[in-house]
Amino acid sequence: MLCNFNLPAGFPSMKFKGSDNYVATQDLMLAVNAAITLKRPLLVKGEPGTGKTMLAEEVAEALKLPLLQWHVKSTTKAQQGLYEYDAVSRLRDSQLKDVDGGERVRDIHNYIVKGVLWQAFTADQPVALLIDEIDKADIEFPNDLLREIDRMEFYCYETRELIKAKHRPVVFITSNNEKELPDAFLRRCFFHYIKFPDAETMKSIVAVHFPDLKQELLASAMKTFYDVRNLPGLKKKPSTSELLDWLKLLVAEDIPLEALQSRDDKVAVPPLVGALLKNEQDVTLFEKLVFMQGRNR
Ligand SMILES: Nc1ncnc2c1ncn2[C@@H]1O[C@H](COP(=O)(O)OP(=O)(O)O)[C@@H](O)[C@H]1O
Ligand SMILES: [Mg+2]
Repeated sequence: MLCNFNLPAGFPSMKFKGSDNYVATQDLMLAVNAAITLKRPLLVKGEPGTGKTMLAEEVAEALKLPLLQWHVKSTTKAQQGLYEYDAVSRLRDSQLKDVDGGERVRDIHNYIVKGVLWQAFTADQPVALLIDEIDKADIEFPNDLLREIDRMEFYCYETRELIKAKHRPVVFITSNNEKELPDAFLRRCFFHYIKFPDAETMKSIVAVHFPDLKQELLASAMKTFYDVRNLPGLKKKPSTSELLDWLKLLVAEDIPLEALQSRDDKVAVPPLVGALLKNEQDVTLFEKLVFMQGRNR
């Protein structure tokens, strides 16, 4: 079968076929396989809420690899993923000499805070490493990690040691496409774009989360959802996670099927629309459309 994993030595051999919790399309499974074969990070892009973070969690679980996660923020620096030297604590301890008889202060290793890359490189078993939302950080961030990701090693100047990966981690990098990534960085990754799920795939995803959902309710909700999504000019299109939230509410609030179905196939403002549309311009746009359709009747 095509989605058979080609795993490096040391990995449990198995196939990733999606999981009970996660629906993976064939091309996504191939991309995971390809990245592992090439020993390159898998760069996953896609709209927010299309399952990028969850992919890393699910592949790690399927391959039985512990997952180390690094959630990137706008202020995150590449160095934090390697290590940080806690000079302040060392200074404080040196002033309180009676703590551990000053022993602690003498050894600089006690003040090196290991980042996720350090942990991943020195782990005794192969691990999966997720660098989540890399596009949140500034443009230097991916550039600063090029060498470490390529060579799987870095140097700690404070302790004068080379930290070299015992086992190459399976690296996942996600991006919501807020910023372009540098070419030199892209060259080193295997790339996959998670396309927005088509209706069939979406049905399978919903089934994973709500196995007992009534088919009529699902059909109506899906139609409304795709109508909203296809509205031209939306600032933020609702995605998979919004649909799931909305369905959860529809079930919890016991919203009747009729509330979702407009009698003459025209668009109506759906109940609990706040789960789908997340800013006032989009809600106004949608209400306007419904109003116009009402007048054209
Ligand atoms: N393919 C999928 N299979 C199952 N659930 C999914 C899938 N894609 C998205 N989801 C649901 O959507 C939520 C958001 O996914 P997440 O991985 O956080 O998205 P992203 O990282 O792309 O923003 C998940 O918690 C999960 O419930
Ligand atoms: Mg995410």
